[in-house]
Amino acid sequence: MKIFIDTADLNEIRRAARAGLIDGVTTNPSLMAKVVGEANVADYMKEVSDAVDGPVSLEVLAQDTQGMVSQGRDLAKIGDNVVIKVPLTEDGLVACKQLRASGIGVNVTLCFSPSQALLAAKAGATFISPFVGRLDDISHQGMELIAQIREIYDNYGFDTEILVASIRHPLHFVDAAMIGADIATVPPAVLWRLLSHPLTDRGVEAFLKDWEKAELRVPTMQETRS
Ligand code: E4P
Repeated sequence: MKIFIDTADLNEIRRAARAGLIDGVTTNPSLMAKVVGEANVADYMKEVSDAVDGPVSLEVLAQDTQGMVSQGRDLAKIGDNVVIKVPLTEDGLVACKQLRASGIGVNVTLCFSPSQALLAAKAGATFISPFVGRLDDISHQGMELIAQIREIYDNYGFDTEILVASIRHPLHFVDAAMIGADIATVPPAVLWRLLSHPLTDRGVEAFLKDWEKAELRVPTMQETRS
């Protein structure tokens, strides 16, 4: 399963990229609005697209097809790795078809049902973004939706990738992988939690203590060669 980071925060994106943990980035207008500040928006987006070797989703704000296509074409000029995020509406699906026809990758976002996901795949979406956390928030099983989409896409051989979004905790991530989602997009706080385990920290500490207690030292390069 590929891992994307779900943020527009450049420090977090660069840190995760340096650690080799991420295959792409997803942003949305709310995430962008949090961090852009006084910067020029296009310049900021360019820095985000340069920060990672993989797809970077940038979302349109227009609600009509023509506006989405026009904004999408402009955003796509920011970088070869830019993928255009459009909402799962009638206009969004028409925009998806048109953008795909001109060779631009599309992430269809705000998906909350299996029928929506099927229609997005038929519109040629590169990625479908079902929001599991927001479904859980209203007492629906977000992960059930991922399993349904997996089955439907496999039934018909759609190559639209399932990008699990609105992930709130490590269990969402593990469940997404167990179901066979293609990608999980994870907020930075969750990403770092995926990595850490108290038994790992305790283990490292104990190994060091035992080594020091025995008053041993680490062999030099010369010693290991002879
Ligand atoms: C992903 O593409 C979405 O922008 C994101 O996962 C939404 O997450 P939220 O429901 O926590 O805002």
